[in-house]
Amino acid sequence: MHLLWLKAPDIAATALPGQFITAYCKDMPLRRPVSIHQVGTSDSIGNPIGVHCTTHDKKPDHIALLFQITGIGTQWLSQREAGEDLDILGPLGNSFQFETEAKNLLLLAGGIGIAPLTFLAQEALPGHSITLIHGTSTASQIYARSLPPQVRFISVTEDGTAGRQGKITDVLPDFLDWADRIYACGPLNMYKAISEQFLEITPDKNSAFKCQVSLEVRMGCGIGACYGCTIKTRSGPKRVCREGPVFPLEDIIWEEVKL
Ligand SMILES: Cc1cc2nc3c(=O)[nH]c(=O)nc-3n(C[C@H](O)[C@H](O)[C@H](O)COP(=O)(O)OP(=O)(O)OC[C@H]3O[C@@H](n4cnc5c(N)ncnc54)[C@H](O)[C@@H]3O)c2cc1C
Ligand code: FES
Repeated sequence: MHLLWLKAPDIAATALPGQFITAYCKDMPLRRPVSIHQVGTSDSIGNPIGVHCTTHDKKPDHIALLFQITGIGTQWLSQREAGEDLDILGPLGNSFQFETEAKNLLLLAGGIGIAPLTFLAQEALPGHSITLIHGTSTASQIYARSLPPQVRFISVTEDGTAGRQGKITDVLPDFLDWADRIYACGPLNMYKAISEQFLEITPDKNSAFKCQVSLEVRMGCGIGACYGCTIKTRSGPKRVCREGPVFPLEDIIWEEVKL
């Protein structure tokens, strides 16, 4: 995983958890979407536990990106050096919604899905009790260093090298009575598994769990112009870059969604 702090005052001032930026990566016609992982000030850079902007008098003027190398664009991003300029656009898309009356927030992060949920945990912490379950294949993929210490962190690894052995869906039932709202970011198969689990528990009332998910589909323009990221939902076609990337879990027709 790579952590990149960027000085971007306009984006940092208005960014909300769940929103993303797109980055122009040299010679690639399509900009690459990456979630906003944190906002902060120059003091935040290199701070092992992350510094939440509201603990400071200073306004946030930096954003952080947390990403994995999956191809040439993210490879190029990972090689940027301090002092270079990057062409980024944002904040884009909608955001996670959290209300003050919902006290207990359960966050489900599959792998790199921890990236936007860290920002959500930081922003939602005042007035909420937060538990984050991080599911990874193995211990070396766990990334929790920017989570506020008040967040209850539970690790689940498929190979059992850290925390409980298994998948997020193995521990999820233990928290369903506790959670007032659920927020998830991870791979498509994780969402499908969660959706099936909810349907088993409350047939025809998936929505009882009030779960919001952030979708990562392939994007073209990233600004709502090309319709390349359109998915079918129960309330009609929606562009992930514009009406999303955050959707109610029960709104998605999972069998129709592809990367
Ligand atoms: C709203 C949004 C937020 C995202 N936030 C993050 C983030 O915070 N951190 C992070 O590491 N990644 C994030 N991604 C995924 C990231 O955009 C892709 O990994 C990246 O675009 C791949 O570009 P590339 O040039 O490196 O790979 P490419 O050469 O374009 O593709 C390499 C491989 O990656 C797969 N891939 C391409 N696009 C995606 C995608 N959108 N999701 C999953 N796999 C993809 C391709 O199918 C291919 O197998 C996000 C995606 C979206 C849509
Ligand atoms: S990527 Fe072009 S409309 Fe969403």
